[in-house]
Amino acid sequence: MTLILYELVFCGGTLFAVATRFDIGFLGGGQLARMSIQAAQRAGLRCLSLDNSWNTPASQIAAAIKGELSDPERIAEVLMQCERVTLENEFILAKDIRAACELAGVSEDAIVPSIASLDTIQDKLRQRQALQVAGVPSPNAVPLEADPSGAIADIGFPMMIKTRFGGYDGKGARSIKNLRELEQNRSAWEGGGWLAEQFVPFRRELAVMVYVGPFGMGSFPTMETVQVDHVCDLVFPAGVDASEAAYAAVEAVGGRGLYGVELFELADGSFQVNEIAPRPHNTGHYTLDWGGVSQFEQHIRLVMGWPIIEPVGAETCMANLLGRSPSGCYSDAISAALAIPNTYFHWYGKEIAKPGRKMGHVNAVGTGCVERATQARKAFYDGWTSLDSSNQ
Ligand SMILES: Nc1ncnc2c1ncn2[C@@H]1O[C@H](COP(=O)(O)OP(=O)(O)OP(=O)(O)O)[C@@H](O)[C@H]1O
Ligand SMILES: [Mg+2]
Repeated sequence: MTLILYELVFCGGTLFAVATRFDIGFLGGGQLARMSIQAAQRAGLRCLSLDNSWNTPASQIAAAIKGELSDPERIAEVLMQCERVTLENEFILAKDIRAACELAGVSEDAIVPSIASLDTIQDKLRQRQALQVAGVPSPNAVPLEADPSGAIADIGFPMMIKTRFGGYDGKGARSIKNLRELEQNRSAWEGGGWLAEQFVPFRRELAVMVYVGPFGMGSFPTMETVQVDHVCDLVFPAGVDASEAAYAAVEAVGGRGLYGVELFELADGSFQVNEIAPRPHNTGHYTLDWGGVSQFEQHIRLVMGWPIIEPVGAETCMANLLGRSPSGCYSDAISAALAIPNTYFHWYGKEIAKPGRKMGHVNAVGTGCVERATQARKAFYDGWTSLDSSNQ
């Protein structure tokens, strides 16, 4: 069954039902789709998203259809109703998107990022292998089988173990110091689908947003990212340039569109690529307020095949706002956060504020931005989680 959205048009005294045609379809309706849609709507583009719930950050601001992202028929509906299609996570299998293209009779070229790059990226082991083949420095990785002796011989301890598909926010990534810890985690990896890789004793973590189009490649500035419990906590300018390593990584997977590249900086100042995301990235949210082009605007331009903008802006720090328990009405807490000068507040409209879930972020712009973003976040949390709040 194909779902077609209609709109009612009143013309010459008669009401007509006209099939709606959209400019951009989003596979996934989370915060990345929502912020991309906000950029697209500024240019008058009509947007549609697909996700498995009716109430998503994207569905609150644009048309949406409900369906599984693993169902080629539902993906085909989006392809048939939209001129261009993009995605907001790397977990939708490339084979399902290709099957949807067949069903819809649509070329893969209507989709940005390139499906070839998605195919390689969504399996962390294939992604590592592609980087190695291209000579891009990144940790050596091998499959972790029910008999782990091969992986232990190749990688040794300490090692990182990761699920090959579907990991995010550190879910599905564990650092392992010795054989005892590897065995303690056996129930996770024994069934297959995991990799073991070299543990990198990095000095700090960095991220670079890279964009690729017919004009070539470009990047946003290199940012330092601080993770707490494997979740990105703070993002601010790194003061170094890791763009060459990031370009090489995106080239290695045949990228077309916008990519977030996560890197490790080692004690000697060299870089290793951790992973690539084929979409706007949490580490690029600071661009919403830095005064230059935002990653979302750039993404929409790439999807539409429009000219892009050279990214230049002010020093800015982003602090993520995670779900907390207890939490009250977020709007009461905003004013406390915004009392810190030159800060901006963003909230994604998620239905449930589970502890640890990314709910929004604050950006602080200009000198001293790291301190101010941290202060603004604290002020927000204090207001949001106060037990005295009348909204509890
Ligand atoms: N090889 C490694 N050596 C040392 N630390 C690592 C290694 N790989 C990952 N880490 C640490 O674990 C974190 C999460 O790993 P990774 O980025 O691969 O997983 P993820 O679940 O996709 O994360 P996210 O969604 O937050 O980007 C990294 O940010 C880093 O702090
Ligand atoms: Mg990561």
